[in-house]
Amino acid sequence: MRIAVFDDRSQLAAAAADIVHAGLPEFVGRALGVATGSTPLAVYAELGRRAAEGTLDAAGLSLIALDEYLGVGPADPGSYQAYVTTRIAGPLGVSAERVAVLNGLADPQAECRDFEARIARMGGVGIQIVGIGANGHLAFNEPGTPFDSRTHVVRLSEQTRQDNQAAFGQAPVPQYALTQGIGTVLEARRIVLLATGEEKADAVARALTGEPDVSCPASALQRHPDVVVLLDRAAASALPDPVLV
Ligand code: GLP
Repeated sequence: MRIAVFDDRSQLAAAAADIVHAGLPEFVGRALGVATGSTPLAVYAELGRRAAEGTLDAAGLSLIALDEYLGVGPADPGSYQAYVTTRIAGPLGVSAERVAVLNGLADPQAECRDFEARIARMGGVGIQIVGIGANGHLAFNEPGTPFDSRTHVVRLSEQTRQDNQAAFGQAPVPQYALTQGIGTVLEARRIVLLATGEEKADAVARALTGEPDVSCPASALQRHPDVVVLLDRAAASALPDPVLV
């Protein structure tokens, strides 16, 4: 695992964009896996800027999202489908048929099963961008989720719902979501974990140090052979001795 710590969030975003940009040719025929939190927004903006100026050709790229709220449809502005369309696919010029996001209005069990097959049809994930929840969640895999889990329905923790309130304005955050399982996420060839802010410091320390344990889903990343971790100083502040790259 390589860990880099940045003073400045825009430097972090540029470094993450560099990793994606430089890595895409290694993983031709595989999708880019995209997290849909607030942390990677600057990375997607930077990738979009490069696509607009013509230095990044993303036309042949496919995108696969990690998760979606149950009961929230693609047309809902709070949906992760809307996020992927407006924040990633649009700026990168990726067409709709090359984008896979779980459908929160479909029959949940069938949708989870079909999504696994869809990932396989899209060639699997080359580079996967992930964030981390303040409680250590990975995608929407809450503490206690088995490391070999596949795409499934989850009940969101109160903390996760509060953390995601901003996307829903005054409306309640859904109680359930669909998410790739931890085992699904770990099948990506390379994983780039992004975390910023002091509120992530404990989760980052638990994820990266000590024995992997289901109480911190993101600690499963220690079992993956190719993980790059990009942190700002605040998110790295509980790490004993960050190894800079
Ligand atoms: C959210 C999402 C994840 C995201 C993580 C961190 O709830 N389901 O995909 O990576 O939690 O989000 P943020 O970057 O907004 O802190």
